[in-house]
Amino acid sequence: MKKKIFSGVQPTGNLHLGNYLGAIKNFVALQNEKDNECVYCVVDLHAITVKQDPKVLKDNIRETTAAFLASGLDYRKSIIFNQSLVPAHSEGSWILGCIARMGWLNRMTQFKEKAGKDKEKVSVGLYIYPILMAADILLYDSTHVPVGEDQKQHLELTRDIAQKFNNDFKTDIFPIPEPLILGEATRVMSLRDGLKKMSKSDPSDYSRIMLSDSEDEIVKKIKKAKTDPLPLPDNLDDAKNRPEAINLLTIYAALSDQEIGTVISEYGGKEFSQFKNDLGELASAKLSPISVEMNKLMKDENYLDSVIIKGKERAINVADPVLNKIYEIIGLFRG
Ligand code: TYM
Repeated sequence: MKKKIFSGVQPTGNLHLGNYLGAIKNFVALQNEKDNECVYCVVDLHAITVKQDPKVLKDNIRETTAAFLASGLDYRKSIIFNQSLVPAHSEGSWILGCIARMGWLNRMTQFKEKAGKDKEKVSVGLYIYPILMAADILLYDSTHVPVGEDQKQHLELTRDIAQKFNNDFKTDIFPIPEPLILGEATRVMSLRDGLKKMSKSDPSDYSRIMLSDSEDEIVKKIKKAKTDPLPLPDNLDDAKNRPEAINLLTIYAALSDQEIGTVISEYGGKEFSQFKNDLGELASAKLSPISVEMNKLMKDENYLDSVIIKGKERAINVADPVLNKIYEIIGLFRG
């Protein structure tokens, strides 16, 4: 069966190793599998759920597009575009917001984490953010959605919305999309604290390896990564109780396309200093070509903008007919 793939990344700057291993690397593999139809979106409307500097936002949209291309996405094989250029996403989101239930949104842990103690003061957009995500996915008849583990709950909500819409209107318009949580590194943790997710918003640059980092920066960040005083664990059960160790082993496994067990059997019992040298070398060999290409693409705004515009047209050709059907089904005029 043909897989219809959709995924998105927010253009909020600081794209990091977690975004790469949990998402973008898998986007590329899926694009290169025969028969898949892939749509990859720079989700700028999601980014504005928190305050953005207008000048920086445009640069970040280009940077995320550049990261897609530099990592191996090809705009001739996949549809690559940014969300705000396709109005169907906002329109679809309103309609799906009338399907989703408050109780469902109230369960979203990412909202609770992001809103923190000051729930009353965050934007309404941040609260209804997963509904826009559902619209993104459902407008492309998507069957599969590659994401990191942190997006799993949002995917479950998308499935609930799709199912309720299909039931309410006795239709099968929406396939029920499956999350694809692929590879060894589905949740990359901070290099400063193995219990915290690697994230764009961590104040410490040393907590994450950025896709724009140079070879030297990558090596330095790995060298400085927090570890515990013991040699590396020699079995998975022990590794699971040592958050910093398992994080670095997982990163090694994902970057070298091996299973974590294989990496543990190679490095178990050895000192971190040796392992960190090897990991630094591996990470800079895999990531610095991306960084070099990204920096090159970032100097060619016209090229990046042309990729986005081409993608916009192709995306509209897929999303608009689906939105037309939705309008028809719910009894609205369209035309
Ligand atoms: P965003 O922009 O926060 O992250 C983009 C992708 O990177 C993954 N990711 C990670 N994976 C492993 N370890 C980490 N530390 C890590 N941090 C981030 C995320 O899981 C994600 O796959 N809501 C989404 C964007 C979105 C979307 C969509 C995704 C909007 N519409 C439709 C899929 C389908 C988000 O904020 O991702």
